[in-house]
Amino acid sequence: MNLSWIVVEDYRRGTGWVNPERRDTRSRRYCELLESGQILMFPELPFALPAEDQEFLLAQEWAELRLHKNVSYRPGEDILKGVTGNPETIGRLRSIFRNYSTAVIDFAGKFLEPYAGKCTIDFSSFRPFEEERRGLPLHKRNDLLHVDAFPSRPTQGGRILRVFTNLNPKKARVWNTTEPFEEVAKRYAPDAGLRRFAEQSWVRRTVQDLGGKLGLRGMGRTPYDMFMLGFHDYLKENTDFQRDCPKIRLEFPPLATWLVLTDGVAHAVMSGQYALEQTFLIPPAALVRPEQAPYRILEKLAARPLVS
Ligand SMILES: [Fe+2]
Repeated sequence: MNLSWIVVEDYRRGTGWVNPERRDTRSRRYCELLESGQILMFPELPFALPAEDQEFLLAQEWAELRLHKNVSYRPGEDILKGVTGNPETIGRLRSIFRNYSTAVIDFAGKFLEPYAGKCTIDFSSFRPFEEERRGLPLHKRNDLLHVDAFPSRPTQGGRILRVFTNLNPKKARVWNTTEPFEEVAKRYAPDAGLRRFAEQSWVRRTVQDLGGKLGLRGMGRTPYDMFMLGFHDYLKENTDFQRDCPKIRLEFPPLATWLVLTDGVAHAVMSGQYALEQTFLIPPAALVRPEQAPYRILEKLAARPLVS
């Protein structure tokens, strides 16, 4: 079982692919690795993020700027959320996020070519608080192993790709991961109610589907999306799983960037402060290994379709 990270050595900031003639093969290979549950790690930034922007993010008195769990930015609408305060500071933050987001989107399009132009650009976020002993409510705790699912953005079988950067110049960001999704699902999905979601009535599915087409918030959820939302909470609540599952500790060094499909790799943030992150949603049609997607693994377990 290899669940540690894979260091990417053939793609660099500025110049891109080290061997441009092998770009297609390598790019596809990295998508395959991500979809099979591997974490890809760059020891140095693979995109531009000016030193003055990094310093500005680190220098803010975040406790004084009133702020929610994280600061988030919606690239499509140019909206910054989760922070209020001095308009000049907010303006500068928004422009840092805008540039960061543009740089990561450009990088991801080149590095993971099979997804380029096919994925939805989701939010980006900055996490300025020390994660160790944050004292958040159970379902919001980052230090409990979980898979990601977003209440307001159902993926309908698509995958959640996240690009993280540890902006802390001195301290590693420490994660725990565990066994592959298939193992976790085999052991816990039945108890988490997989059958109930798989047998959901036609009426309920149609209502969700219509709501989604009308663009109603939180609608458009397939039985897969509903199961995954429940599974996120179920895993965090399950004290046996949290205590007994095999754990792999990963220490991402200062300024490392790592890519991971967080709907399929259970993760917990044990410590660290100052991470930047951009999320992408990859639709099933863009996947290079759809058979390894959580929805397909769960459909096999349930012997029923969960996405339609
Ligand atoms: Fe997460």
